[in-house]
Amino acid sequence: MRIGILGTGALAAALATGWTRAGHDISIGGRSPERAEAAAKASGARSRPLREVAVGVDAVLLAVHWRGVADILRAAGAPTGSLAGKPLIDPTNAVEHGIGVPQPESGRAMAHHVAELAPGAHVVKAFHLFPSTRWTTPASSPVTVAMCGDDPRALDVVGSLARDVGGVPGVIGGLDRARQLEEVAGFVIALAFAGLDAQSAIPATGTPAPAQP
Ligand SMILES: NC(=O)c1ccc[n+]([C@@H]2O[C@H](COP(=O)([O-])OP(=O)(O)OC[C@H]3O[C@@H](n4cnc5c(N)ncnc54)[C@H](OP(=O)(O)O)[C@@H]3O)[C@@H](O)[C@H]2O)c1
Repeated sequence: MRIGILGTGALAAALATGWTRAGHDISIGGRSPERAEAAAKASGARSRPLREVAVGVDAVLLAVHWRGVADILRAAGAPTGSLAGKPLIDPTNAVEHGIGVPQPESGRAMAHHVAELAPGAHVVKAFHLFPSTRWTTPASSPVTVAMCGDDPRALDVVGSLARDVGGVPGVIGGLDRARQLEEVAGFVIALAFAGLDAQSAIPATGTPAPAQP
């Protein structure tokens, strides 16, 4: 697949590395061309100007701080339809670090704001719960990549991209479940900052994610 990544930080570089290793063609763009070039070089991808990142790609990853989401989507042409019809992966954690309180004041999910800012895009909330290093470091067992979205094809695309970095897609429903997924991130972050492992705070249910073929 051809994948465009908006953002040049830790998550952008980690998923670019994982997806490049899986054979995908990755373009990275950010507000700093120098940082985009550095992230691309570090991950085996290539950098592109922001306004070109979403052109001709099969999916887009929105890997910026939540406060930068509106700016970067604007620079990538989202308000005028550059992302229409494309899967748009939203991994943003709009939570207060240290205490884990969700930030968008409307009480709505960040993913819904993203959908409004990118008309026609098929937003999928995903890749927001694990640290970026999870996608570059081989793990002993696969992890479930919880996700939600309204478009079945977009969910298939993002599920396939999750498998490519050692994950197992776990679709919990439509985008109306995004706020729930975002609250989980706040819960995990709050416990982490309290020095506790979130996995020890939830009951073990179901069976472990199956190993990848
Ligand atoms: N890192 C993780 O482990 C992880 C895991 C799950 C989810 N996430 C989420 O993924 C997103 C990226 O996280 P990260 O760790 O990669 O962050 P990061 O390393 O701090 O990088 C942040 C990115 O956001 C950009 N940015 C910040 N403000 C901006 C603005 N106003 N306009 C345009 N771009 C702006 C930065 O650009 P500049 O370099 O120009 O400042 C940079 O490209 C965040 O929403 C985070 O919550 C991260």
